[in-house]
This record gives sequence, structure tokens and C-alpha cells, in this order.
Amino acid sequence: MSADRGEGPLLEVENLHVQFATSSGTAEVINGVDLTIEEGETVALVGETGCGKSVTVKSILGLLSQPPAKIPKGSIKFRGQELLGLPDEEMRQYRGQQISMILQNPMTALNPIFTVGEQMLDVLRWQGERRVGVTKYVRSKFSDNSEHRERALDMLDRVNIPAPERVFESYPVELSGGMRQRVLIAIALLSEPELLIADEPGTALDVTTEDKILSLLNEMIEETDASVLYITHDLGVARQVSQEINVMYAGEIVEHGPTSELFEAPKHPYTRGLLDSIPQLSRDIGSGIPGEIPDYTAPPTGCRFAPRCSHAEPECTEVHPFQRSVGPDRSVGCHLYEGAPVFERHSELAREDVYIGPPPWDEETTDESVRTMMPEEGEDQ
Ligand SMILES: Nc1ncnc2c1ncn2[C@@H]1O[C@H](COP(=O)(O)OP(=O)(O)OP(=O)(O)O)[C@@H](O)[C@H]1O
Ligand code: SF4
Ligand SMILES: [Mg+2]
Repeated sequence: MSADRGEGPLLEVENLHVQFATSSGTAEVINGVDLTIEEGETVALVGETGCGKSVTVKSILGLLSQPPAKIPKGSIKFRGQELLGLPDEEMRQYRGQQISMILQNPMTALNPIFTVGEQMLDVLRWQGERRVGVTKYVRSKFSDNSEHRERALDMLDRVNIPAPERVFESYPVELSGGMRQRVLIAIALLSEPELLIADEPGTALDVTTEDKILSLLNEMIEETDASVLYITHDLGVARQVSQEINVMYAGEIVEHGPTSELFEAPKHPYTRGLLDSIPQLSRDIGSGIPGEIPDYTAPPTGCRFAPRCSHAEPECTEVHPFQRSVGPDRSVGCHLYEGAPVFERHSELAREDVYIGPPPWDEETTDESVRTMMPEEGEDQ
């Protein structure tokens, strides 16, 4: 399929909503997510466990089973092409070819009954095919695969697999977790994707192996031209790999900005809490903030973070805070930041009479009512 490299972002997710039918009611998990990835950019999606990172990724790849999932509104465009609602056959042309993915768990992501080599050859043989009939598939097994084999072995070598020939002939069960994750990275890069989605690669591995996998992946990202959506719960990792960060809380992006700016001047109370609570900005981002992600079948009507926010005002529990621009390429969804909502669709919903105060941490203010909301030096967020 020829990629139309037109104007505009590579990936544009707008106002995405995802619900799940559960035994205790409808879980409103993803609530109006906006996410943009420009050509060549590495963008991180960061948030604690259960905040909806994988659901967002599965929505992009068309991997959510509907039902129980339902996408009542939203748009996901890849190079301007709407992916939501595409028949699976057409979606398959994007998935695995223009958009590749490295999954969270290397133990389950490989097919146990085929060798690594067979799985790699299949990727190379069927790139872009809409449908593969049984006869065609069987014939391909006996055709000359030497060129594809060379490419697969070369890719195994590039991901630092010590004995590519042996691993090529091995079944997944014969490989360690770290080795399987290397194989998955190799497979994801085989099709030279335009967008690589890495969903917490390595979290199922021990810490030392995870570190090695992450540095390998970073090298590979630098080597390829792929744009990357990097999912992690680890802000330290996000800082290392990304140019832009989206902080996600309970199914919403609560803050977005260039990585360096977000670290220098975090604005949302949740982002600040995360940064302040993490020793050396690494691991377990949720642990320092008391409380937990709300029940998605009965989420708070106002700010979803209000039950955990030390700056919550009565209005916060009543009115939902929409994303507002707080500088070029910076936005935050918190009532502490006044001004026009970033997105047109939010303007009719935002109540003008809700005024809580100007940005509390990075601007001088003489307004006493605002200063009382500002954290004291050394105060926990
Ligand atoms: N099929 C489903 N049915 C019902 N709820 C679901 C389903 N899939 C996901 N969820 C819920 O959606 C929420 C977000 O899940 P998701 O897997 O996206 O979290 P995550 O941010 O990727 O977390 P982690 O860091 O642990 O991987 C969770 O509460 C989860 O229970
Ligand atoms: S809107 Fe209110 S409750 Fe939500 S993060 Fe901002 S101050 Fe806290
Ligand atoms: Mg996940």
C-alpha cells in the first residue's frame, strides 16, 4: 500500500471515548483522549496502572473486541485516513506494516508452535496482503525464501542476538524472556514501520534485562526513521526516550508538553505529584499519591483526579476541567489554569463562571485566595 505522505500529523487521535460493558455497568474508561504524533517524533504516554494506556493503544490498532468494548465517539487518523470503523481486512494493511507494535508481555506475544524464523518469514512474506488463502500459504512454505531469510537473520543480528542462526531455528519456549523480547523488537522492525508502538516493553522482565531491552530499543529507534508512541509507567524512561509527553490519568490526558518543559515546570497537580514522589524519577509512578484510580463504572462527574487532589475546590467535583492551552504546545486539564479551552468542542461545555485561579506554581500572584491554593515549600502534592 502506498503511503500518502501528505500534510498533517502522522497519527491524530481526537476526542476518543471507549466504554466496556461489565457486570457492574458501563465502564467509561477512555474519556475524550487527544493525542498527536508528528513525523519522526517519539511521544510518550505515561500513567499509572489501569489508567487506560493499553486500551488507547488497542483502539489505535483496532484490537479491541467489540463487544464488550464500544467506541461511542472519537476519531483516529493515520496520515489523514480514518481508522475507526475500517473493516478488519483493511485495518490489517496498517497493522504490522505501517504500524507495528511491541507488546507488554514477551511470554505470550510469540506463537509457541512456530519457530522464530517461521514467524519472521511470515511477516516478510505477507506484508500488505489483505487476505492469504491456504493454498497460497502452503506454497509459500516451499518457495525460495533465501532473501527473506537473510533479512530476518540480519535483523536478529541488529538486535544483538548472539547466535542469530540458532535463534532463527528455535521455538519461543527455548528462549529466555529477554531473548524473546529482542525477537519481538526484531519482528516489529522487520516491516520498517512508519509508526512503532511500544507498550511497556520489558515490564514483564527482570530489572536488569528490562534495562538492556530499553537501551536496545532506544538505539533501534535512533537508527530507524520510525515515529514512536512509547507507553510507560516510568517517567524516568519517558524522559530518556521522548520529545513529547502525554500524562494520562483515569482515561484522560491531563497534561501534554515537550518533555524538557514538562519536567522543568509540571503544571497539573497529578504530574507534580508523580514527579515529587519518585526517587530519582524512576519506577512506580503511582505509589507516592494516596488513593487510587476511580471506579470507571461511576467516575467522578467533575475532575476525575479530585478525590486524590490536595488542591481540589468544591467546583472541581462539579465541573469537568477541559484541556486548556498554557503555552505553545502545552496544555493542561485542571481548573487551576484559567483561559480558553484548547479544543473548540470543549468551549460550549466549559462554564465561564468557574474561576478558581491562575496557574499557581509558576506565576507570581498577589491574590490571597489563589495563594492559599499554592503548595508551601516542601509540602506534599
Ligand atoms: N475487556 C475489558 N473489559 C472491561 N474492562 C476492561 C477491559 N479491558 C480493559 N479494561 C479496563 O480498562 C482500564 C484500563 O486498562 P488498561 O489495560 O488500558 O490499563 P493500563 O494503563 O495499560 O495499565 P497497565 O500499566 O497495568 O498495563 C482498567 O480498569 C481495565 O480493567
Ligand atoms: S481540577 Fe481541581 S481537583 Fe482536578 S487537578 Fe485541578 S485542582 Fe485538582
Ligand atoms: Mg497496559
